[in-house]
Amino acid sequence: MLTARPGCRHDATGTTTLRNLQPHHEPDADRPLRARTLVRRTRTRRRDHARGVGHSVALGYDRGPDEIAFTVGTQEANFLTFLALLSSPAPPGGDGHGSVAGADGDSGAPGSGTHAAVVTPTYQALHSVPDAIGSATRVPLTQPGWELAVDRVAEAVDDDTAVIVLNNPNNPTGRYHSEARVRALYDLAVDHDAYLLCDEVYRGLAHDPLPPVASLGAHGISTTSLTKAYGLAGARFGWLAGPDPVVQAAVRWKDYTTISPSLFGQHVAKQALGDEESAILSENRALAERHRGIVADWIADHDLDWHDPVGVNAFPTVPAGFDGSRGFCRAVVEEASVVLAPGDAFGYDGHFRLGFGHETDQLREGLARVGEVIASRQ
Ligand SMILES: Cc1ncc(COP(=O)(O)O)c(C=O)c1O
Repeated sequence: MLTARPGCRHDATGTTTLRNLQPHHEPDADRPLRARTLVRRTRTRRRDHARGVGHSVALGYDRGPDEIAFTVGTQEANFLTFLALLSSPAPPGGDGHGSVAGADGDSGAPGSGTHAAVVTPTYQALHSVPDAIGSATRVPLTQPGWELAVDRVAEAVDDDTAVIVLNNPNNPTGRYHSEARVRALYDLAVDHDAYLLCDEVYRGLAHDPLPPVASLGAHGISTTSLTKAYGLAGARFGWLAGPDPVVQAAVRWKDYTTISPSLFGQHVAKQALGDEESAILSENRALAERHRGIVADWIADHDLDWHDPVGVNAFPTVPAGFDGSRGFCRAVVEEASVVLAPGDAFGYDGHFRLGFGHETDQLREGLARVGEVIASRQ
């Protein structure tokens, strides 16, 4: 949820970010960034530092540093992965192109195909991008509880499926699928010579995070960034982890997107992934937990329903008295200058997405304002 002064609205697709070391804020007094010194050091020892961060990130996935590619956020990590794995449908008289298999000329490699099976609702790019390159089948989570039905995904997978796509913990529902279900999905990918790509950008906010999918075996790919769990959206620093051929194919595409993360992003990442990492993560987990409690009380006060979420997104039901999720979100933005995302953008008109990663005062203020709009219709 974003609050704004009248006349100062934020984009409804805006993401929720936690507070910590935000580069657009003044550096914390007790955690000075000392920009000039660090930038100078970064310049002179850039290779060593990048190698150091690569090694430590790779360890978290049981992989080597060559199986990690640093990107400009999770968005680019996902984008490059799709470009690496998916070929476009063959035009009449021609072959598809662009997949790992295509790049290596080995049409039998895992991940070759034009099709993605995508578990939804999810972050839009996770189905729109594969659909733009090849084709994507959306496989809905089942209600109540937004359960991951592996047998439904199995029905959507065919010989042309290059990748199964999951986002865990999930945006928008906040559902954190169990290790058993994720492993079953991984096995399904293996059986079909496909990959399982898991967007794990909210994983660091779970109190007991599951093993990342890239650590499950040769068919696992994980993407993430500093945006959510580290509260560093502005650093635009992320990565993908996976098998060497996929990472190398992604890196080849990266030459045509951003070439490398910015020096600034690398510089901030070095700090966030270094000695301060566990302090940042536990501070943000505590903040997410506190805010989840505040939202839970608000949900109960307004007689709404939700799945108790992991992460900083909730997907409650639309209150009575409004014309669907769009009617509700429009009323809230126009009357209270609070931005919520309508559930129909995710294919669920009975719900709205509420992000609760911002400052506590802002959250309380925003909830109070939305509460007034709800009360005005009862
Ligand atoms: C599931 C998911 N993936 C990716 C992104 C984009 O993240 P990044 O800032 O790391 O590119 C978001 C942002 O909201 C997200 O919710």
